Amino acid sequence: MNFQVIEKANTKHTLIIPLIAKDLAPNLTKLTTQFGLPSAVAQDFKASTDETLLIYNSQVGLSEKIILLGLGDNFKTETLRNALRLLFHKQKEKLGEEVIIHLDCILEKMEEQEAALAVEACANGAELATYQIAKFKIEEKPTKFPQNVAFVFPKQLHDLIQKAIAKGTILASTQQRVFDLVNLPPNVLNSLKLAEFAQEAGKAYSFKVEVLHLKEIKAIGLGGLLAINQGSETPPTFIIMEYKPKNQATKKVGLVGKGVTFDTGGISIKSSDGMWQMKCDMAGAAAVIGAIEIAARLALPVHVIGVVPATDNMLSGKAIYPGSIVKTYSGLSVEIEDTDAEGRVILADGLAYIKKNFEPDIIIDLATLTGSCIVALGYHASGMFTNNDELAIQLSRAGEQTGERVWRLPLWEDYDKQIKSDMADVKNLGGRPAGAITAAKFLEKFIDKHPAWVHLDIAGVAFTDNPYSSARSATGYGVGLLTNFLSQL
Ligand code: BES
Ligand code: MN
Ligand code: ZN
Repeated sequence: MNFQVIEKANTKHTLIIPLIAKDLAPNLTKLTTQFGLPSAVAQDFKASTDETLLIYNSQVGLSEKIILLGLGDNFKTETLRNALRLLFHKQKEKLGEEVIIHLDCILEKMEEQEAALAVEACANGAELATYQIAKFKIEEKPTKFPQNVAFVFPKQLHDLIQKAIAKGTILASTQQRVFDLVNLPPNVLNSLKLAEFAQEAGKAYSFKVEVLHLKEIKAIGLGGLLAINQGSETPPTFIIMEYKPKNQATKKVGLVGKGVTFDTGGISIKSSDGMWQMKCDMAGAAAVIGAIEIAARLALPVHVIGVVPATDNMLSGKAIYPGSIVKTYSGLSVEIEDTDAEGRVILADGLAYIKKNFEPDIIIDLATLTGSCIVALGYHASGMFTNNDELAIQLSRAGEQTGERVWRLPLWEDYDKQIKSDMADVKNLGGRPAGAITAAKFLEKFIDKHPAWVHLDIAGVAFTDNPYSSARSATGYGVGLLTNFLSQL
């Protein structure tokens, strides 16, 4: 799809008109005179969220097709993005070749900057709808989307709107690449392929990528990653990425992503029910790679480092035993009480590595870490753990804006005794109570008292039921959130 900004609407286009319920009546009256809508429309269209009404028009000089699109009671950029994504996904065949997204009704009272954000959301949502999940079907017919999607604005705003379109579509393109990483089957996307993906992204979008392989991983003592990889046929990788802006950077941000390409649980094996979903256990890694890619593509003024420890969690005659004690990169010893609590063990190395070698101002890790976090928050927010109140506020706000919500949970000292080990510095299992919190407390041991660390447990939000696929699939969680957060630093 090609997005553009034009000065005057032309009647060959299909008109898409987003509307909010609050001031629906006066808007419908206005549209009735402007586009010749029959007044009966008001009986059938209430502008509830995602509601659509397709109207055909035979009057000459007016658009033949008009689609009213409901956004619920109050305007939210997020609702606009989702409504357009759903409309383009479900009704692509009906949209025709040429589309205008008519924003006048919702933009009336908006500042220019807010208008730009609305356009960005529209372009992002429409472009996200073009995602093709059927990558392995040989008989899939190509889907047809509109050729041109236009926004109508006066000439003096065209530069601003053009930039908003670019931002929305570039973000969507990286988000789609992240969907792919997470959705790709585990026999295709292993630790080596994940590293290759990062390397190619680095080449394409000009950021630095270094991949440590088995020999180097052993040489520098990434003992946590090695322990989890022990049962695997595929060697681990340790991916280090760096994007540095041309001019002075506002901040240096370190991102760490859990890159478990498949989690069987290891010797503490999971039940086979739904185990296929554990291909999503590298969604944190995908979000980190995506965030660096987008920082580079949008030339954000932040210095971003990304670190991804990658492996699958397999069982075999060589796999690590429950009860084993391993020495991690930080020097701390870990008792592996449960081999299914593998994420925190590889993240221990990722966090210690980034802290020691890069000294970032802020460290954020993303990980599909615990089922316990899903029990606490369901599928509507990630669990946020941080020792820094200001970051908590900034990330909460950033997530509210993009619809990628975070919800803070505590890191009180009281939880420490659950992960005390008699024999080692710490154990990787905290028992049933507050499992997401004890996992976070475990990670905290490896940041070496860094004062600005955030852990996001994305187990519930990275791979979910959604209207765009019949089974669960990737959401791209984290890319929009981090893009927004990094842009506001
Ligand atoms: N990858 C899982 C967590 C997970 C669960 C991610 C559901 C996505 C959806 C993680 O490695 C795991 O197995 N966690 C265990 C920890 C337990 C053994 C302490 C869990 O949550 O059951
Ligand atoms: Mn696990
Ligand atoms: Zn896992």
